[in-house]
Amino acid sequence: MIYLDNAATTGVKPLGVKKAVANAINNLSANPGRSGHMVAQRAGEAIYKTRQQVADLFSSGSQSVVFTPNCTQAINYVIKGVLQEGDHVIISSMEHNAVARPIHRLKTDGVIDYDIAQVIMGDSEATIRSFERLIRPNTKLIISLHGSNVTGELMPIKELAKCCRDRGILFAVDAAQTAGVIPINMREIGIDFLFIAPHKGLYAPMGTGILIAEKPIEKTIIEGGTGSYSNLLSQPDELPDRLESGTVNLPGIMGISAGIDFLNNVGIDKIYSHEKQFCRVLCDELKSISGVSVFSALAEAELGAPVVSFNIDGLTSMETAELLSKKGIAVRAGLHCAPLAHLTIGTADIGTVRVSPSYFNKHSDIFLLKRAIFDIKKAKNIAKRY
Ligand code: ALA
Repeated sequence: MIYLDNAATTGVKPLGVKKAVANAINNLSANPGRSGHMVAQRAGEAIYKTRQQVADLFSSGSQSVVFTPNCTQAINYVIKGVLQEGDHVIISSMEHNAVARPIHRLKTDGVIDYDIAQVIMGDSEATIRSFERLIRPNTKLIISLHGSNVTGELMPIKELAKCCRDRGILFAVDAAQTAGVIPINMREIGIDFLFIAPHKGLYAPMGTGILIAEKPIEKTIIEGGTGSYSNLLSQPDELPDRLESGTVNLPGIMGISAGIDFLNNVGIDKIYSHEKQFCRVLCDELKSISGVSVFSALAEAELGAPVVSFNIDGLTSMETAELLSKKGIAVRAGLHCAPLAHLTIGTADIGTVRVSPSYFNKHSDIFLLKRAIFDIKKAKNIAKRY
């Protein structure tokens, strides 16, 4: 199988990650932060170390790093934790449902109001103006993804952060597709909340998520044991305890640690350069095939998340993906849980076929994919003739 669905989760995990997960299960199966015995202490140290690694990677405080079961929960913690009745929120027109649905839910519950800022492909100044036009006196929060999971389009997060800072608005970034791929310096940029899917760009196991919260989260949506302040019936105020109730996913967290080691050993720049080059060549090859339309920031722009969407005329994205799967090529088709993004690029009716490489894909994969597309087109033409 040629795995080209790394935007969903990286298909090949580095050996170090596999070993770290096995080590957690084999040698550190104890409840960190609870029991005081030696194994629990070592498990706690592994978590402390990982928190520090995450903080170093994204330039944040280590106490701001909260481990969550996935990126979606991290997003929900912020949306439902900081927004109050009467607040206004702005999201981008490329957002994933992980952001759009909880925001929409709060609006339908009559708690908040929100607007969607139109993203103008390849024109970050126009995109910033789209956001600025929507700001109201009660705008509390702006949420933007960093890189689209449909086209790889990068949002001007530096400029949006400044726009928020100047007006006292909180700024949250969904970095599900870019964390570990494109460097993000939270403090330099001025990001208040960062959402990370470590099972993607950090090569960690699935069932892991990270929230980095540089601003307080007033309300909690999950309360329970934290191993700290056990005499109190109220949830601790300080992070990460405030948002880490219940036993944490130690194998997953140790996988995150090993994933960061992998990134640091290979070098994020080298990984990104490989994936970017892969996408560029792929875009050129796809564009050279008649009847194929391509949607990818990296088809034109210098920077973009490593994601290429395409469609073959006369086939739905689902049909193309199914035919590719039969030929041993794994891609994702449809709306990619991002209907707003498809409305923005004009593919809401059929979705797109999405190709997303990781560091482990070879350039030969592009040519195998291209040949498979030719075969699919040929078979379709033959079927038409009879
Ligand atoms: N959000 C993930 C994707 O884009 C799962 O495939």
